[in-house]
Amino acid sequence: MTKKITFLGIETSCDETAAAVIKENSRGTADILSNIVSSQISEHKKFGGVVPELAARAHLENIDYIVKKALEKSKINLSQIDGVAATAGPGLTVCLTIGLNIGKSIAAFSEKPFVGVNHLEGHALSPGLETPIDFPYLLLLISGGHTQYLIVKDVGKYEQLGTTIDDALGEAFDKTSKMLNLGYPGGPCVEKFSKLGNKNFFKLPEPIINKAGCNLSFAGLKTAVLRESKKINDNEKMKYNLAASFQNTINKILYKKTKIALEMFKKKVQVKEVKLIVAGGVAANKSIRDNLNNLSKEMNFKVIYPNTEFCGDNAAMIAWAGIKRFKKDLFDDLDISVKSRWPLDETAPFMKGPGLRLG
Ligand SMILES: Nc1ncnc2c1ncn2[C@@H]1O[C@H](COP(=O)(O)OP(=O)(O)OP(=O)(O)O)[C@@H](O)[C@H]1O
Ligand SMILES: [Mg+2]
Repeated sequence: MTKKITFLGIETSCDETAAAVIKENSRGTADILSNIVSSQISEHKKFGGVVPELAARAHLENIDYIVKKALEKSKINLSQIDGVAATAGPGLTVCLTIGLNIGKSIAAFSEKPFVGVNHLEGHALSPGLETPIDFPYLLLLISGGHTQYLIVKDVGKYEQLGTTIDDALGEAFDKTSKMLNLGYPGGPCVEKFSKLGNKNFFKLPEPIINKAGCNLSFAGLKTAVLRESKKINDNEKMKYNLAASFQNTINKILYKKTKIALEMFKKKVQVKEVKLIVAGGVAANKSIRDNLNNLSKEMNFKVIYPNTEFCGDNAAMIAWAGIKRFKKDLFDDLDISVKSRWPLDETAPFMKGPGLRLG
């Protein structure tokens, strides 16, 4: 019987200080021995968004306690783990540095291998914590900083099919919530208040819907929400109608673009069963799940989401990516440094800024 690997994971790329201990199990998934997430919502609430210096200070104050708590809860001591994984990027440099340094120190002190994990690989592999999934699959990554369609061929092997050319989807939710004064963090507030509104009340733009393959754009939609929000004078009912119409427009965009991404995936990869994995913070959104479930029925593919606990930032997904890399002998030296920008597909064209041409 092959040894089941146990890892300590650490995550501090943005506004969650997190540590987890997980162990492989015989089902090919993970036993979550501990998964501690300390969210900084109250720190950033009054600013309506993440303030990097405040986030870094909170990580510094909390990280020792969170790691200690994760180890205690797991009932595992450092001598029993097989390695340490910490997020090395992408994210806020001042925040990443804290988790990465703690992770490297623990690995050095306990003489264990170290893996510097790409946070996006953490999201990409996260459904595997609970569901055995084999490669390849199509990934829709929808988070606070990224919105991408990628073919996941193997651990460390990604091909980008499309990406946002401006805002990330989570960012669009957060900005909509801010414009409508619905609360922080934005995504869950927009989802909650959308239930009280008429989703067909406002006709909002669906930018680049009929061009640029499965690339996406949300900036024009955000501007339209801003314009309409100024006309409605804080009228509660109209605010809910606008939130619902925004979410409905997002769903129409995702339906169309996911269809295109799936056709591209099927042309490039020969598989018996097509699988779509939806990961990242926005994957917690129930209406988006219902929408993509409808598409899966129409196009006959399997769609898999992580449990909501593993959609937003957490360290279990970082430990899991660490285990997957460890098993392929992909460890890092302790001189590895933070990478604030770190695309999963390093060969993909940079799709932002002036001069961008969309086919
Ligand atoms: N129910 C929801 N509906 C829509 N958006 C949501 C929901 N829950 C969370 N989000 C959004 O998810 C985002 C956070 O996701 P995540 O933690 O994965 O992002 P991040 O780590 O900041 O960015 P990245 O992973 O790209 O570096 C936020 O923008 C948040 O508003
Ligand atoms: Mg994230």
